[in-house]
Amino acid sequence: VLNKTIAVLPGDGIGPEVCREAVRVLEAVGEKFGHHFTFETHLMGACAIDATGEPLPTETLEACFEADAILLGAIGDPKYDNNPAAKVRPEQGLLKLRKSLGLFANVRPVTAYDVLLPHSPLKNDRIAGADMLFFRELTGGIYFGEKGRDENTAFDNCTYSRYEIARIAHLAFQAAQNRRKKLTLVDKANVLETSRLWREVVQEISLEYADVAVDYLFVDNAAMQLILNPRQFDVVLTENMFGDILSDEASVIAGSLGMLPSASVGERVALFEPIHGSYPQAKGKNIANPIAAILSAAMMLEHFELYQEAELMKQAVQEALDKKILTPDLAASGVAYGTEQVGTFIAYCVLDGAVDVALPHK
Ligand code: IPM
Ligand code: MN
Repeated sequence: VLNKTIAVLPGDGIGPEVCREAVRVLEAVGEKFGHHFTFETHLMGACAIDATGEPLPTETLEACFEADAILLGAIGDPKYDNNPAAKVRPEQGLLKLRKSLGLFANVRPVTAYDVLLPHSPLKNDRIAGADMLFFRELTGGIYFGEKGRDENTAFDNCTYSRYEIARIAHLAFQAAQNRRKKLTLVDKANVLETSRLWREVVQEISLEYADVAVDYLFVDNAAMQLILNPRQFDVVLTENMFGDILSDEASVIAGSLGMLPSASVGERVALFEPIHGSYPQAKGKNIANPIAAILSAAMMLEHFELYQEAELMKQAVQEALDKKILTPDLAASGVAYGTEQVGTFIAYCVLDGAVDVALPHK
């Protein structure tokens, strides 16, 4: 029996709705296994700017440092996206949180679920069986380099140190050892000095992991290979921005961006968040897919070493997919369920194993 305090940062747009369902499912896990999860909600993102003027209030950051884990919904608002001159932006909150907590590795699994194959616009025989794990560097590179602009020019500096590359490379190699023993480094070493350092460091480190086969791909080629032949990938290691871009692309393999969870780990408390954004058009409409948030919560349980609990949660998600309890992003022909119904169904499955509740359609 465990006691865990979880800082919940629902954020903006659909963030609160998907977080609510992830919390519902975690509560079901707690009830089933006798764990005590305490949830503490805090402001981050555009909602925090509205309330306090800052995207990451000190109070939120302090609560995150104290928590056993962090669950995050999504942040972002069109009023900032469409205003390039805005000085304070919701994304600054997320970046500062990642940096302050030293969350240098963002782990993003991508799976082609059999039952969702027809939902992918990609040819099913290309993507069936695809199963990969991205290791995206999260606290360095162009996101965090010196920036500047004047009237006519702007720059974003991209810097990486040996240390920053080595620490995530070790995690990625260790993950590969526990999977199909293949690691692909994605870079742009034919052009970028930082990429040449990545390649050098990864080549050196690979000697310590002789059982892992290493492959090197340029990012432009990787973007193509990802949809041409996704089964070739096992662990994909890459820098911050390439990982951001390629993981959104890879979500097409899973059938929906609303399916992809992530874990950000590093020096202290870990953070769990869906890879999707705040989807402002869907806010409050009960149509957002909560599965990415729920699977992020399952990754949190794995982080707590609650493997049985995490497995049950993943089975419950599979049950929802099998029974076609799906939000509109995945529902084929008109019959869609709401965010809350999908979450409730998954929570029931966690509590009772398989359930035969006939939920009303949305
Ligand atoms: C992500 C998001 C963020 C990123 C944004 C919201 C800053 O796109 O987590 O993938 O670029 O890292
Ligand atoms: Mn992204």
